[in-house]
Amino acid sequence: MIINKKIVLLGYMGSGKSSIAKLISKKIDLMSVDLDNYIEKKENKSISDIFEINGELYFRKIENKYLRDLLDLENYKIISIGGGTPCYHDNIKLMIESKCIVFYLRANVDTLADRLFNEKYDRPLISKIKFKKDLRTFISKHLFERNQFYLKSNFIIDVDEKTEDEISNECIKLLS
Ligand code: S3P
Repeated sequence: MIINKKIVLLGYMGSGKSSIAKLISKKIDLMSVDLDNYIEKKENKSISDIFEINGELYFRKIENKYLRDLLDLENYKIISIGGGTPCYHDNIKLMIESKCIVFYLRANVDTLADRLFNEKYDRPLISKIKFKKDLRTFISKHLFERNQFYLKSNFIIDVDEKTEDEISNECIKLLS
């Protein structure tokens, strides 16, 4: 597929951004990159270590810097970003103004709480929440705050109860 815009996948933690990016990349043969992985490679540290050692403020600063890198780099056509990326600095504006095609992978709170409860350990914002009901409450509030940024996307894809294959096909269909 020939597209001259970049594809960006955004959404809350656990919404499936990086797996869907990889699947789309495989299906349409365009190179994908995950912003968190890129940050970890460049900084030679895990995201958890960056939060722990340098703090969230530093993370948000470099997240903005590396997002700019990825938007400029020609070879990466599909970018999955972190759950918080669109909500800090001028990131959402940058993506919209760079003429990216932005997809919001929208999952409901129950789906997210179920998925994230077993995957919270390498996510510094939720790693210390002990009980699922508290995680659910945290996600509800957080998602409410973040939605205003997520909703600036070009397309909203509801992901609950869909397979990765279905979600990726839905995104690809919207590209043509
Ligand atoms: C964050 C989401 C994480 C990662 C960091 C902060 C957030 O990415 O960037 O832990 O603020 O929601 P994923 O959405 O890929 O888990």
